[in-house]
Amino acid sequence: MTERCQGDTRPRTGPRARTAIVLAAAALLAATSVAFLPGTASAGTTLGASAAEKGRYFGTAVAASRLSDGNYTTILNREFNSVTPENEMKIDATEPQQGRFSYGAAEQIVNHARSRGMSVRGHTLAWHSQQPSWMESMSGSALRSAMLNHVTQVATHFRGQVVAWDVVNEAFEDGTSGARRNSNLQRTGNDWIEAAFRAARAADPGAKLCYNDYNTDNWTHAKTQAVYNMVRDFKSRGVPIDCVGFQSHFNNDSPYVSNYRTTLSSFAALGVDVQVTELDIQGAPAATYRSVVEDCLAVARCNGVTVWGIRDSDSWRASQTPLLFNSSGQKKAAYDAVLAALNNGTTPTDPPTTPPTTPPTTPPSGSCTATLQDSTRWGDRFNSQVTVSGASNWTVVVAVTPPQKVSNTWNGTPTWDSSGNVMTMRSNGSGNVFGFTTMANGTWTRPVVRSCTAS
Ligand code: G3I
Repeated sequence: MTERCQGDTRPRTGPRARTAIVLAAAALLAATSVAFLPGTASAGTTLGASAAEKGRYFGTAVAASRLSDGNYTTILNREFNSVTPENEMKIDATEPQQGRFSYGAAEQIVNHARSRGMSVRGHTLAWHSQQPSWMESMSGSALRSAMLNHVTQVATHFRGQVVAWDVVNEAFEDGTSGARRNSNLQRTGNDWIEAAFRAARAADPGAKLCYNDYNTDNWTHAKTQAVYNMVRDFKSRGVPIDCVGFQSHFNNDSPYVSNYRTTLSSFAALGVDVQVTELDIQGAPAATYRSVVEDCLAVARCNGVTVWGIRDSDSWRASQTPLLFNSSGQKKAAYDAVLAALNNGTTPTDPPTTPPTTPPTTPPSGSCTATLQDSTRWGDRFNSQVTVSGASNWTVVVAVTPPQKVSNTWNGTPTWDSSGNVMTMRSNGSGNVFGFTTMANGTWTRPVVRSCTAS
């Protein structure tokens, strides 16, 4: 959670800047206060609103061609607070001829989403599939340059509008080999994936950068382990990766497995966010949909779930009826199960890299107990309140998830680590309850109390 990759050029907020932000935020707080996240209806009654209550998003793939369908957009606008263009940001759509970029359909989706307060996942910058014919026939250094130029151009074009990019999609083989997929991109050199991530970071320093794949749900599978090893290697070498997307296209040949939660939490423990990016389940069994959502909610760094389409008739696998709405747009049993899971789910309090522990009722000498609670939420930020027991002179360490930034604090004296993401708050005689405001920057993960020390 505190890790920051080498080469990470995202803007940081230093103490002086923070003071200015404090004043600006205070003015903003007074001026604008909305009931809940934009893009959601009343909390607890729609997928997006319920997910937002848990600090997550609930998204869907969207096809630009369907935005003129009133039944489709009614459900989209009511239920979802995140959108992924299904095909419109792929390489063949955005660069149909080399050096000639075409963003119309993607912009239609981005504008629809952002004007309604929904966030956008970008999909996808580098992939062996859906390449335009000019790229399919390229190889070697010419292809490497063309791929990097594509990443740079597209990520730059949408800079500030996309909260997370699937930078690289589906780069590993299926089966037991654990090998990279033998594609024209792979043949440009094994470092093509990290080169794509570095180019994306340079182009849009504010976006989360994800690796996205399918058949990586079962923790014991060779492909899952191969991707895990790549992410671990990237983190150890400072390659700028922030998240891993699990497509999670479940069907009878590739079913949901009970170790899915282990998979999500194991990747999260590497210091990346995890996201369920393309969920659909053959036959839409309510219990399985519910399990997937519960698994995400159980992992602090699981940011949200995206289903791969709205109605069954919108699905790439329509005959499997794998989605939450039937072809008439009516809610299916799976919808009710997902909504119930979102409403019952707990907000994560566990530090992502350590197992959850039960706070001691009587703190041992030298320590204390700090309990974090959610407070007010606005469209772009939220307040948290921390109650300390067991000491009157205390030091509490709290971490937020990048790109979140703390913009304001009260009833304590804060200092910061070099990343700006870890705050050490010391008592200043104002009592045993302190608070702070976190600018979400698209990420609604709850801050985590790391430690409480009596002094
Ligand atoms: O738009 C044309 C239409 O004009 C034409 O008449 C028709 C005839 O084939 O094709 C239409 O384009 C199709 C496009 O979907 C839009 O419907 C393409 O043929 C078809 O190949 C394309 O399929 C997409 C598929 O990716 C391509 O790989 C699916 O919609 C899309 O859901 C699917 O999404 C992928 C993710 O990107 C990555 N993970 C797997 C997932 C499912 O395959």
